[in-house]
Amino acid sequence: MTKSFPDGFFWGGATAANQFEGAWNIDGRGPSVDDHFTGGTHERAREITIDIKPDLLYPNHDGIDFYHRYEEDIALFAEMGFTMFRMSISWSRIFPNGDDETPNEAGLVFYDRVFDCLRSHNIEPLVTLSHYEMPYHLVEKYNGWASRELIGFFERYCATVFERYQDKVRYWLTFNEINCGTMPFGAMLETGLIQGFEGPATAIETSLQDRYQALHHQFVAAGRVTRLAHERYPQFKIGNMDCFILSYAATCDPADIILNQQAMRQMNWFCSDIQVRGAYPSYAARFFEENGVSLAMEDTDLADIADGKVDFYTFSYYMSNVVSTHELEQTSGNMTRGGKNPYLKATDWGWQIDPEGLRFSLNEIYDRYQIPLMVVENGMGAYDTVEEDGSIHDQYRIDYLRSHVLAMREAVADGVDLIGYTWWGPIDLVSAGTGEMRKRYGFIHVDKHDDGSGTYERRRKDSFFAYQKIIASNGAEGLE
Ligand code: BG6
Repeated sequence: MTKSFPDGFFWGGATAANQFEGAWNIDGRGPSVDDHFTGGTHERAREITIDIKPDLLYPNHDGIDFYHRYEEDIALFAEMGFTMFRMSISWSRIFPNGDDETPNEAGLVFYDRVFDCLRSHNIEPLVTLSHYEMPYHLVEKYNGWASRELIGFFERYCATVFERYQDKVRYWLTFNEINCGTMPFGAMLETGLIQGFEGPATAIETSLQDRYQALHHQFVAAGRVTRLAHERYPQFKIGNMDCFILSYAATCDPADIILNQQAMRQMNWFCSDIQVRGAYPSYAARFFEENGVSLAMEDTDLADIADGKVDFYTFSYYMSNVVSTHELEQTSGNMTRGGKNPYLKATDWGWQIDPEGLRFSLNEIYDRYQIPLMVVENGMGAYDTVEEDGSIHDQYRIDYLRSHVLAMREAVADGVDLIGYTWWGPIDLVSAGTGEMRKRYGFIHVDKHDDGSGTYERRRKDSFFAYQKIIASNGAEGLE
């Protein structure tokens, strides 16, 4: 059987405004939640401060300065052959406080320019409306998504950008990795439940009740804006976005199988069951009852959710986990801990590399939902060395890329309707988890370092040319 990707398959890269734009307080932008996080490391958590302290370093403030260099960066993406670029709009560039009545025109103009530039290179934008950030004022005043009032503020923001960019953007995602809101870490970035909190990010404590209530508000908000998009802009396609962390049962002990089924539901299926099918899943009632979660809802909430079914399903995929009722060696991973898998190698940050798991996940997701899928994040954070002549030989990244593209090709041959792939961080950017620059994902190196120094110069790594070859042949070549 000839294995290939469909014609018109989208190849590209994915970013988030707060991790690469910089220009955090320029042209009327208000501070976002990420602007209050200092840099950390794999071993030392990022600190959250209520005020911005002059003696501390906040890496998101400058990012990699895409704000002033977007033309150069987009030209490099075009040189690699991108047909899609995933980016997010910084909510606080448009509504600096989040609850403002009118938008900030300078912020809107910036994205006009970026979208025009992408279009001039025939690159399709894929826009995340909320990628791990919100105006910090919404945290300070409302405790983020704990408050129902956020639904209205988010609707106003989405209505504004939908109207403004209706001729420039067709593909939209509502909340990045919405399912991370089920975990304490996500409650900091995804739902912003950190009102009055100061200290290491690992010390944040939130109850399940608060986390699921905040998520409920997001489901309603996502449902309402998806309905609005479908009613007013028939050319739009709206997707969800989940952080898919496949887990395996460590043994065939039936207790492990049940535990893994529950882990898969809570981590991977709960949010997308709601956003794809338009209703809370049948297993939610028992989970809520046994965990003391009681959601406050208004009469129209379930109808809003039902009306907001997505057109396509998207997810990030970096690693897999192992769960067991038996004792297991642990490893740290993508915002969560899990069991070590003896059959897999891990990155320097402990993320277990599992391309076969991507094929498996794609099949599982497609079997369940039967709508088009996109892998909108996949990548490898690694230390890179710049040689004296300026070259960067990142064979480890090329191996990771090739093995995951091969796995996707197998999934397509299995019958999965996969329509796009955007590598995470095609250009080095600030890590969301640790705030580091040295945890590099890019095909393009950026001369920026953890102490804030650097010239911001861009350099092509070996992986730049490897991805270029894969894209040029629509995934037929460059995989060996
Ligand atoms: C995803 C996020 O979870 O993982 C991105 O959507 C993030 O924002 C990416 O950057 C990689 O994680 P990290 O912590 O290595 O930056």
